[in-house]
Amino acid sequence: MFYLKYRPKTIREIDNLSAKIMIGKILESSTLPHAFLLVGQKGTGKTSTARIIAKAVNCLNNKFSQSAKTSEVDTYEPCNKCANCQSIALSSFTDVIEMDAASNRGIEDIKNLIRETSFLPMSGGYRVFIIDEAHMITNEGFNALLKTLEEPPKSAIFILATTNLEKLPKTIISRCLKINFGKASNTDIFSMLKRISKSENINFKDDLLRLIASHSENSFRDGAKILEEINLQKIKTIEEIEKYLGIRGRNDLIEIIEVKDLKKTLSWINDFAQNGGDFKNLIEDILSQLHSQLLIKNKVIDNESKEISLTISEISLLMKLLIEAYQNLRNTPIDSLPVEIALIEFYNRVEEKKLT
Ligand SMILES: Nc1ncnc2c1ncn2[C@@H]1O[C@H](COP(=O)(O)OP(=O)(O)OP(=O)(O)O)[C@@H](O)[C@H]1O
Ligand SMILES: [Mg+2]
Ligand SMILES: [Zn+2]
Repeated sequence: MFYLKYRPKTIREIDNLSAKIMIGKILESSTLPHAFLLVGQKGTGKTSTARIIAKAVNCLNNKFSQSAKTSEVDTYEPCNKCANCQSIALSSFTDVIEMDAASNRGIEDIKNLIRETSFLPMSGGYRVFIIDEAHMITNEGFNALLKTLEEPPKSAIFILATTNLEKLPKTIISRCLKINFGKASNTDIFSMLKRISKSENINFKDDLLRLIASHSENSFRDGAKILEEINLQKIKTIEEIEKYLGIRGRNDLIEIIEVKDLKKTLSWINDFAQNGGDFKNLIEDILSQLHSQLLIKNKVIDNESKEISLTISEISLLMKLLIEAYQNLRNTPIDSLPVEIALIEFYNRVEEKKLT
């Protein structure tokens, strides 16, 4: 998987510019904070960064190592080669403890973790405690954690990561140094896609990579996944990608739905399926398009795109049918069926209404 293979391994490789600069400054300074809080949307690099920090402070070849005091090394980057860096990468380093709070969220889990903080590091300089999805910890768990988070033993560093800052108690937030990952920007994702393409020898034009970036929901992980899928499917042109992602698709199909032409509809869907189009993407795109049309027609938002000719009640009926189709995608033997059935049903109901 590209997104695992190209996970950033050094601070320099982190593409979120502001996060990169901030972490660099922190590691450059002489005092390390005892607790970090990494905040940002999915796939923006929180877990990757937590591991990079864990490596940096335990690396044997940078400024944090014991021998550095005497020699000239002053870089804070992990070398990714020494025994410590390598065993952290393999998750087999005893001084780096990762806890996924999504599955270990209770008071007992936290108590075990706190007990671990009292041990001195065995092979590194610091014991690093990474708590991923930290917002999932129970209230009792948070309360138990507070005191340790405020004054942990000198050799302990906490790194909390979360997608939902608002679900963390203020008392926890105020004890940590917060680093914002926000959303991955299209430019940042584009540069990641370039990096991957280069080393995988994928010859995609920049326009094409930009299109993928803009369809990645501001997540590096999603971007890397789409690039890999498109490469595997041997898709080469912008048209094919648009179809695959269901963008071009969406507009064409909505135009056909407006004139309620069943034959054209079915043949369009057939083409889409033949081209390896993704029906989940397609339904999501049409629904979001219909949703903004609903808001436009009700004057909730300004008319930024062309108004379609379906009435409000037609739009809401179609949305209802498409949501059903969306749920049925999981249990269909033929991918295209749920959308086909939804549209046939839609045309029939609109027709019935006209007759009565
Ligand atoms: N800054 C970045 N530069 C390049 N690639 C990145 C970056 N951040 C993340 N990625 C890619 O996205 C993938 C997911 O990153 P990571 O697991 O660190 O994100 P996360 O913020 O922890 O996401 P989640 O909230 O879903 O756990 C990585 O494997 C990597 O391929
Ligand atoms: Mg993560
Ligand atoms: Zn190292």
